[in-house]
Amino acid sequence: HRHLLGIAQLNPVEIIDLLDRAEAMIPISRQRKTLPSLAGKTQINLFFENSTRTQASFEIAGKRLGATVMNMAVRTSSVAKGETLIDTAATLNAMQPDAIVVRHGSSGAVELLSQKVECAVLNAGDGAHEHPTQALLDALTIRRHKGRLNGLTVAICGDIANSRVARSNLILLGAMQARTRVIAPKSLLPRGVEQMASEVFTDMEKGLEGVDVVMMLRLQNERASGGKLIPSVREYYRFYGLDADKLARANADALVMHPGPMNRGVEIDPAIADGPQSVITEQVEMGVAVRMAVLDALLNKEEGRE
Ligand code: CP
Repeated sequence: HRHLLGIAQLNPVEIIDLLDRAEAMIPISRQRKTLPSLAGKTQINLFFENSTRTQASFEIAGKRLGATVMNMAVRTSSVAKGETLIDTAATLNAMQPDAIVVRHGSSGAVELLSQKVECAVLNAGDGAHEHPTQALLDALTIRRHKGRLNGLTVAICGDIANSRVARSNLILLGAMQARTRVIAPKSLLPRGVEQMASEVFTDMEKGLEGVDVVMMLRLQNERASGGKLIPSVREYYRFYGLDADKLARANADALVMHPGPMNRGVEIDPAIADGPQSVITEQVEMGVAVRMAVLDALLNKEEGRE
């Protein structure tokens, strides 16, 4: 592939290949070494939506591979003067980058941009569509703890309707033969969710029974059209916030995950977020390795490969 637009474009062999490549990047990243595999290449990070983890880790990943990395400051760019996405893409393309990493609020915007440039395009999250590197880093984190993905039961809980993280994870985990459960109030379940997950629950305590992984999602209030997603935070936390009582329903060695940023006290008890089962900071660390692997795979393709 020339681009990474979504997990949906990858088959299981390609997913495993990227996870194995990421695994190999961990020691390089941990020792803060530079592998000059992207020396002489230029990477542009173009984030139309806010980010801490994804933007920082794509920048660190590119630099650890020796690339020249430029972060476009979208807010002070000519986008603020009304320049369109396509004109912005054509403008950056004229500067001959090797890769553009894009985050955008609209589903499909990253694919559209990929059709207008000659370099590799990596999706860093587009609307409620996909966040492929997040799903890969989540899979790597799970695989490192559980030794496998197939046969595990993974619960994804909370604001499924607005979540590109949930979509990418459901596609990846399904492809890797894991069992997936989504847990949310009806109002936060997207249409067609039954086709995306193995099981759907509106009762969190039932949904967490015997799971190997509990993946919490941020309540994305900024995506609520004209108001709030939920009537009461206190009520939401009572029924859908991950606390010790609800976590006790999961397997004793269940991993607690969250892509971040967290709303502490809304979807997760801070004591659980910082507790012994939490791998939330490890997810962030794996993000660097995964982004190194994806950049390396796309920009150093062997001749003759797709
Ligand atoms: N998980 C994630 O995408 O976080 P950021 O929005 O901080 O990049």
